[in-house]
Amino acid sequence: MPDITELIQKRFSCRTYADKPLEDQLLRQLDCLAAGEHTGPFGGKPRFQLIKLDMSSPEKWKKLGTYGVIKNARLFLTGAIKKNNKAVVDFGYCMEPLILEATALGLGTCWMAGTFNAGGFARAINLQGNEYIPAVSPVGYPADRKSLTDRIFRLSAGSDHRKPWKDIFFTEDFSAPLTSEQAGKYFPALENIRLAPSASNKQPWRILRAAADNFHFYLERAFGYTLREVPIQDIDMGIALSHFELTTRELGISGQWRIDEHAPERKSLDYIVSWQEVGG
Ligand SMILES: Cc1cc2nc3c(=O)[nH]c(=O)nc-3n(C[C@H](O)[C@H](O)[C@H](O)COP(=O)(O)O)c2cc1C
Repeated sequence: MPDITELIQKRFSCRTYADKPLEDQLLRQLDCLAAGEHTGPFGGKPRFQLIKLDMSSPEKWKKLGTYGVIKNARLFLTGAIKKNNKAVVDFGYCMEPLILEATALGLGTCWMAGTFNAGGFARAINLQGNEYIPAVSPVGYPADRKSLTDRIFRLSAGSDHRKPWKDIFFTEDFSAPLTSEQAGKYFPALENIRLAPSASNKQPWRILRAAADNFHFYLERAFGYTLREVPIQDIDMGIALSHFELTTRELGISGQWRIDEHAPERKSLDYIVSWQEVGG
């Protein structure tokens, strides 16, 4: 796989696909990755499946719709996880590496937690009563030109922009922003969180550096981001944890996720987890 930073920079929400099926070899590779075992930092074990739309059956297509947001995709990465506290964080954490693998194979993807017909996908993945489907993603060759819907979506979400460091990374009990110089060897891991995708590009992650090797992760939740019992912004957090960990791993930094009872509380923020470097 290429450099993780390169993949994170290359990924974008692709809503317009070329009208051609995936090569068999790519399909097998992705199938194999999806079908493997996945475990998140909170112990949740999502299952993933590539679901092929049968284009010859308009009935089936209708049921598996994306309300016209996605054009020409025939293949969807779909996942389910047992309902539990923080299960959706685990889901995001486990699905993002699959998205980045698809990116490495030259394929387009688009995280979708809202604009898909949950009932159709539930039937296709044989959803059990104690599970939910937090999100799905089309997978395919990106088209050369974006559809109008695609362009409108990007514009309205401001998808080409990200918040500056000072708005999301903090030090000293949140009283001061964390500068890129202060981040030191953690600069690439934090920058790769900043570039992460998030629902409506809300970028709800807030990170407090408690010490050079210790970071607390929080969510600034927006109102109305629970759909079908799924706290959608927990997916954003899972993606952020995955970007952070994949980057540290590539840098040769080891650490672990743990709940820290001493993590400072802040009224507008929901504490999720902390990173503590080990060894070194
Ligand atoms: C958890 C999550 C849910 C999303 N849900 C949708 C969705 O329902 N429909 C859609 O078109 N895009 C969806 N997106 C894509 C975001 O709008 C997109 O990631 C953001 O605008 C940044 O753009 P980029 O991914 O191209 O960098 C979602 C992204 C995430 C991470």
